[in-house]
Amino acid sequence: VLLPTPEDCGRVVADAVVGSVLPALARGGPVVLGLATGSSPLLAYRELLRRHREEGLDLTGVQAFLLDEYVGLPAGHPESYREVIRRELTDALGLDPAVVHGPDGAAADPLQAARDYEQQLLAAGPVVVQVLGIGSNGHVGFNEPGSSLASRTRVKTLTEQTRADNARFFGGDVEAVPRHVITQGLGTILGAEHLVLVATGEGKAAAVAAAVEGPLTASCPGSVLQLHPHVTLVVDEAAGNRL
Ligand code: GLP
Repeated sequence: VLLPTPEDCGRVVADAVVGSVLPALARGGPVVLGLATGSSPLLAYRELLRRHREEGLDLTGVQAFLLDEYVGLPAGHPESYREVIRRELTDALGLDPAVVHGPDGAAADPLQAARDYEQQLLAAGPVVVQVLGIGSNGHVGFNEPGSSLASRTRVKTLTEQTRADNARFFGGDVEAVPRHVITQGLGTILGAEHLVLVATGEGKAAAVAAAVEGPLTASCPGSVLQLHPHVTLVVDEAAGNRL
């Protein structure tokens, strides 16, 4: 879907989330929603919050699972992705923090924490809809270029570009950005029933074009979406201008 503005993208992503989650909730049982952090989905999250406030959107019964987490930030650190998603979305949606899951980046053994998270997700799943952003280098979750297309949840090292991109969340100080992360693998992400990737702005245009129209390659982790039968790509004019 190619739309004029980022706000339009937010509405369409919110529609996709609600359109997958509400029917699943109506069928009963816990419903797993896959959430991404980063700036790309924020307008969609604001739109979900607006619908919650003004239209009574009720996502009670959802279990939310994050894509990724920094390694080494203490639990409760404001930039840890569990904290970010609580602050930006789930608290105001009225979801109990206990239903918001993420890899344990503060664990003494991050390798084990990654395996545990994969098991927890597989046991809870399937993810009915997974919200995704894309990094300027084509990364999805924190699967940097070179990630195996079949990878499962594991510890990864961030590229310098991603650390520089994310320094803005750490007061502009790239040294404050953790070097390691736990991320769902590309194979893990492909297990979701519906993938919704949102990208806005000129800075994402090359990554979007490579992911959608380029070859299937570990050099562009986003290209793995070409393997999935149900993907909704939501881009504004700027991010779509190389398609
Ligand atoms: C971050 C996150 C990804 C996100 C991407 C793009 O580092 N780990 O999940 O999709 O990079 O970030 P943004 O949306 O802020 O451009």
